[in-house]
Amino acid sequence: MNKEVRTSIKVSKNGPYIVKDLKTLRNSKGVFIETKPVMTLCRCGGSANMPFCDGTHAKNGFSGEKEKDLVADRVETYIGKHISIHRNKDVCCHVGHCVRNLPSVFKKGKEPWADPDAVNPEKIAALIRTCPSGALSYTINGELYKDYIHEPEIFILKDGPYNVTGIRLDDPDGSMPETQDHYSLCRCGASQNKPFCDGSHSDVKFKDDKN
Ligand code: FES
Repeated sequence: MNKEVRTSIKVSKNGPYIVKDLKTLRNSKGVFIETKPVMTLCRCGGSANMPFCDGTHAKNGFSGEKEKDLVADRVETYIGKHISIHRNKDVCCHVGHCVRNLPSVFKKGKEPWADPDAVNPEKIAALIRTCPSGALSYTINGELYKDYIHEPEIFILKDGPYNVTGIRLDDPDGSMPETQDHYSLCRCGASQNKPFCDGSHSDVKFKDDKN
């Protein structure tokens, strides 16, 4: 009888992500990277062999601690006639699908940040479902939509986080993703909300290519 193999990611204290039984690891160009049954992926931002850990975290003073106390409920809600938009900016990876593709709804640098009545709700829902970090979710007719079904995959965003789908996260410190089946994990080492990306890679100008 086949034993079910479940892909998993474990957050190691002040060290890398330990990834087991991952089949699909892709870089930002869509190129598949060969996987092994157990891999360690860098989260300190210092490895010379990205995306894999090369032990640099032990020398560069990397700390996996969160740098601020995040209350469980930092979600803001923008209530509309037919759809309400929820946003947890502490886990936003700043990939910008929302502000780029629906600027009349998602308004960068403005308040209120979102206008749920600006276009039809199906369009907003479809856009939110492309949010890789889980920072955005929505409610229609009283039903909250935040978890979808994805195949297990880690996608390495250029100069940004690991965008994870369909993989259970095991953090001994108890961190839970905002959404269970898709979330972004810090790769630069600078997030204040580790292990999750909070967009700090842009602030610290994290680059895959250090040359
Ligand atoms: S986590 Fe080990 S080198 Fe970055």
